[in-house]
Amino acid sequence: MRVYFDNASTTPLLPEVKDEMIKVINDKFGNPSSIHRDGRQSRILIEEARKQIALGLKASTGEIFFTSGATEANNMALIGSVRDLGVNRIITSSIEHHCISHTCEFLHQQHGTSIVELSVDKSGAIDLQELAELLSSSNEKTLVSIMHANNEIGTISNLEEIAKLCAKHEALFHTDTAQTLAKLPIDVSEHNISFLCGASHKFFGPKGVGFVYINHNNIVKPLMYGGDQERGMRSGTENIYSIAGMAKAFTMALEEMDERHEKVLSLKTYFTQRLLQELEDIQINGQEDGLYNILSVSFPASPKSEMLVMNLDIMGIAASGGSACSSGVENDSHVLQAIGHDPSRKTIRFSFSHLNTIEEVDYVIEKLKTVTPVAVDI
Ligand SMILES: Cc1ncc(COP(=O)(O)O)c(C=O)c1O
Repeated sequence: MRVYFDNASTTPLLPEVKDEMIKVINDKFGNPSSIHRDGRQSRILIEEARKQIALGLKASTGEIFFTSGATEANNMALIGSVRDLGVNRIITSSIEHHCISHTCEFLHQQHGTSIVELSVDKSGAIDLQELAELLSSSNEKTLVSIMHANNEIGTISNLEEIAKLCAKHEALFHTDTAQTLAKLPIDVSEHNISFLCGASHKFFGPKGVGFVYINHNNIVKPLMYGGDQERGMRSGTENIYSIAGMAKAFTMALEEMDERHEKVLSLKTYFTQRLLQELEDIQINGQEDGLYNILSVSFPASPKSEMLVMNLDIMGIAASGGSACSSGVENDSHVLQAIGHDPSRKTIRFSFSHLNTIEEVDYVIEKLKTVTPVAVDI
């Protein structure tokens, strides 16, 4: 049996998405910038995809720009804010993805941007009061960059409250929605969100494609120059197959959002209950009601639980020892360190999808019992 519990790293392509992409591969090849019929057909396809994404977010089509994924989208937002919108202070958190924290480091070194990192509590949540105080403490032009849900522990930020605070203090607000887009409803027309991002491979679309939402009030310049594709914001011939696949995956995810949510949450709940009952000294990291597909579990230090990710893999189970970007590194990730996690414990992130089953959960629990301490009364 092979069990894939690493859906926060990436997801498989759904057959419907693959079919859509194959249809485009077979039928369309024109360069979307060409004015002849073949080109126009590809152009129509891209603009249709943009419309579907904009509709799902209640954005306007002019606010969506296709990118290679969330990393590029987040870079565009942060770098553009500093370079083109006069931002000289970024308030962020200590548990952001490296595509935020490393970009902040770059902006600090190259542009002298002041970077203020909010600490988080044991569950990974920021303190809104601290954010409010920081915002009112200075008149510097500020960008707040706080992720919607953390990729390692699933902690969810209150977008609505953060957006309100930013509006009150005239700060720009960027949120990394790579983990929540197409999983939780996001309506940019309701909140004061300046930038957000999407990565198609997190919601059963192809890898290497995503988008950035840039609110029309914020005119930023591109990161790359060339043929002026994406209305000058992202030069280079568009990846029409992947854009079509992403739009299909996004539309399906929105249509099936409630159904998927319910199924995945019930798997996570069942898995958590069995872990807590049948294994010894289990600790769950993050909020109790964090993102429904992510479960970060710490096992007690024991010779049995060394090399846990590798042992699970040998038994046919794919999971992650932190975020995918840091797997293989034995130290606690920056996220686990920020929540004060005991580094002697071994942490595994299990992340589920609607394609998983109860039988898979049962299989994983039984296998875990062979490599971690089992509760004495079982
Ligand atoms: C929260 C978060 N932000 C950004 C990214 C980067 O996404 P991509 O590798 O598709 O650019 C990831 C992917 O792991 C993520 O989880």
